[in-house]
Amino acid sequence: MQKDAQYYVNKLSLIAHPEGGFYAETYRSKNIIQNSDGNQRNISTAIYFLLSDTQKSHFHRIKSDELWFHHDGETLAITVIVDGKIEVIHLGKDLEKGEVLQAIIPANCWFASEVKNKKGFVLVSCTVAPGFDFTDFEMAKKADLVIQYPAYAGLFEELCFA
Ligand code: GUN
Repeated sequence: MQKDAQYYVNKLSLIAHPEGGFYAETYRSKNIIQNSDGNQRNISTAIYFLLSDTQKSHFHRIKSDELWFHHDGETLAITVIVDGKIEVIHLGKDLEKGEVLQAIIPANCWFASEVKNKKGFVLVSCTVAPGFDFTDFEMAKKADLVIQYPAYAGLFEELCFA
């Protein structure tokens, strides 16, 4: 059977994510910790995340480091701003071409992603610790990022919602 984006959306019961793409939470630790802000969070959470060639994960940031793991489909290009500089991580299976099976996105960094060659789909997993909470999640405002990083205005035009 051809495993396309629709196959995984159905099989894994994925739903639309506010940043773009589809996801399903697969794990939420029952253990609770207090994070550095003093807020209580589950120790760790995990999701499946899927992007098709017509979708993008738009620039956003979260308050925990996020680990990404490639499962199936095309290579995912993750663009992240670290210390004011753009880095592009290619999450995929072609290690000979410099792709990585795992990626780490540092906490509080703006990042976005899309299917590298803009065809097909990609299925990954993402885990965060302390666990994910939508109050720790912030979608970027294009105008703010353009003011902060004017050299990358073209990129924000493509990869920000508004
Ligand atoms: N749960 C809901 N959205 C997300 C997300 O963007 N990342 C992680 N790791 N978990 C989530």
